[in-house]
Amino acid sequence: MRIEPLTPDLVPEITRVAKHAFEFDEIDEALIREKTVGAEDFDPELGVVVKVEDRVVGFAQGAVGVGDDDRGIGYVRLLAVSPAWRRRKAGTLLLFTLENQLRARNCHTISIMDCPQNYFQPGLDFRYTEGVCFLLRHGYRMVHENHNMRCDIEVGQWPDLEAEIKRLSAEGFEVRRAQFADEPHICEFLQAHWPAWVAEVKRALRRDPPGVHLAWHNGKVVAFAAYQGNNASLSWFGPMGTDPEVRKKGLGAILLRLCLKDLAHQGWRHAIIPWVGPISFYARTCGAWLDRCFWVYRKDFSTKPLEWKLAEAALAGQSDPVNKLLRAFSFDPMTRKESELVNK
Ligand SMILES: CC(C)(COP(=O)(O)OP(=O)(O)OC[C@H]1O[C@@H](n2cnc3c(N)ncnc32)[C@H](O)[C@@H]1OP(=O)(O)O)[C@@H](O)C(=O)NCCC(=O)NCCS
Repeated sequence: MRIEPLTPDLVPEITRVAKHAFEFDEIDEALIREKTVGAEDFDPELGVVVKVEDRVVGFAQGAVGVGDDDRGIGYVRLLAVSPAWRRRKAGTLLLFTLENQLRARNCHTISIMDCPQNYFQPGLDFRYTEGVCFLLRHGYRMVHENHNMRCDIEVGQWPDLEAEIKRLSAEGFEVRRAQFADEPHICEFLQAHWPAWVAEVKRALRRDPPGVHLAWHNGKVVAFAAYQGNNASLSWFGPMGTDPEVRKKGLGAILLRLCLKDLAHQGWRHAIIPWVGPISFYARTCGAWLDRCFWVYRKDFSTKPLEWKLAEAALAGQSDPVNKLLRAFSFDPMTRKESELVNK
């Protein structure tokens, strides 16, 4: 069992692993590429696979962000091991490799999956029981829950939408699909209110046609809604936001519905509204319901628990702790039993 870099030619193989590992998710190659080698923030040292002989049996992708306290925060964007190869330390090798790389980049906290710039899901779906056990085993603690909603969509929905847009136009609001040239205005608006969403909205804007609808007032963007800037191969809505000064006028509802109609025109019959957010607003505006629950796990490396101090003491003197671990766990998985590994 050995760790190797995650290179673009391995995307079909890691997609196969992800399809087996994430049974509660819809996975395809485009999605896995977007989360790994195709990500704007792809860092080759934060993409790794575990191979047994020449077969990929697991992979992980990390990312670096900025936490709420302006300090570096590391993310495990994805981590998966084929069911047939579990509980043989493949997951541990992947996690330790990422933890070391992220800590070397000055990340004091590592968070699981809720990477705002580009995320697969906003945390670990709590039904992935092995994943929960694995993270607890490695000293991660659940810090909060995130939720996804879902709604049915169809092309002919909301026939009054045009009339609503005209009503708002009489009040001085222009509602229209964004154009690529609008990017500086959108970014200015996002920087003022939701800077964490800039990357996702820019990706939505680059779609053809652009996956962003805007409301303008006095030459300024005052509200937006976007889709497929993240998880572009899924029916993925969001993010959206309205300037607090112009809320309660119906702008958000119109922009949301315009996006959902676009998704219906693509052939989708449902939309995913991730990482909510204003649950009642979505329930009221598009009949959405709460669909999935994700637990966000974090580990803080600045206050080390005793088990970490012990682990570090055990590794003291090793110039490369990851290699030490690899050696410790190196075994022939075809012939040896788990008990022998545990006894090492
Ligand atoms: C989580 C996952 C990556 C772990 O991969 P793995 O190769 O089995 O991991 P390891 O062998 O290094 O460690 C497994 C540890 O997790 C815990 N664990 C896993 N399944 C468990 C179970 N059914 N009961 C109790 N503990 C369990 C144990 O601590 C176990 O160690 P042990 O075998 O020494 O008892 C794998 O289960 C997976 O791909 N799950 C689906 C995807 C997922 O949840 N990914 C997100 C995780 S960040």
